[in-house]
Amino acid sequence: MIVECYTENNNRTGKFKTMNRTKIILDCDPGHDDAIAIMIAAKHPAIELLGITAVAGNQTLDKTLPNALNVAECLGIDVPIYGGMSLPMVRDQIVAENIHGVSGMDGPVFPPNARKAEPIHAVTYIINTLLESDGDITLVPVGPLSNIAMAMRMEPRILPKIKQIVLMGGSTGHGNATAAAEFNFYADPEAASVVFRSGVPIVMMGLNLTDQTICTPDIIERIKKTDNKAGKLFGELMRFTLETQRIHNGLAAGPVHDVTCIAYLIDPSIFEMKEMYVQIDTAGSAGYGGSFCDSWGCSKKKANALVGVSIDLDRFWNLIEETIRYYH
Ligand code: RIB
Ligand code: CA
Repeated sequence: MIVECYTENNNRTGKFKTMNRTKIILDCDPGHDDAIAIMIAAKHPAIELLGITAVAGNQTLDKTLPNALNVAECLGIDVPIYGGMSLPMVRDQIVAENIHGVSGMDGPVFPPNARKAEPIHAVTYIINTLLESDGDITLVPVGPLSNIAMAMRMEPRILPKIKQIVLMGGSTGHGNATAAAEFNFYADPEAASVVFRSGVPIVMMGLNLTDQTICTPDIIERIKKTDNKAGKLFGELMRFTLETQRIHNGLAAGPVHDVTCIAYLIDPSIFEMKEMYVQIDTAGSAGYGGSFCDSWGCSKKKANALVGVSIDLDRFWNLIEETIRYYH
């Protein structure tokens, strides 16, 4: 597979060389930042986006699935899209309407979309695709882990077939759904616990890192200068969460949490990572859904995750702008 290669600071060299593209299934709950993750994953030459699976999270599945279909149609992304779990495994459902709006992706207005989801369930798609693979597929869940955990429980034979899981969720520090818990894990703590106890190699991008990717007005203006449909959609999306994240989370703007997973797969050197033992609280108390990250090794337990601890924001936003420029 011929793809473009990049110099150290992500300037396109224009030279071509054979390199392996990373095969991924993107599992998401669009979701403003999920939409940007789809935008980048679908276009960067280092990524081979095999399929998109939608899950309930930011909004109910009857909203997150059409949102994924609308983003793909708007950007001309020809990738199969599957509907997955409409409810968490155990707890009552929660959504993040205060941040993402009634539609789950308020802001942009999409024309009527005839595009349909694939007829099989996302969990079945994940299982079948992994079993048929050479073990070279990375799962990239950026919403609640309901689809991933259900696939693991329905068919344990997929575990050795998962190359790695690069997920957005949790935090080494503060939560955003509760003081202890980040939204994706809080929306389905039992699913998060199944995944972190699976033994599959995990890369975790938590709030401690992703909250730094706030998309301020100057960045929105910078991306607008790409003057294409992706740059336009980026602005419509991020202007909405600019307000809701300021009002509800006290942030200066909306972070593009989920995009950090895609950026990590494209250029891991943008991030500083640390191996940690991570345990998910499913006890149902004040810490419910919290991710206890043992950064000092106090538990003496073997690390089960590579956790993002810092990010080079200049290189991160250069990568985002560079990739969006690939759209027409
Ligand atoms: O806590 C941030 C996460 O919750 C992101 O994935 C965002 O899209 C929401 O799903
Ligand atoms: Ca998400």
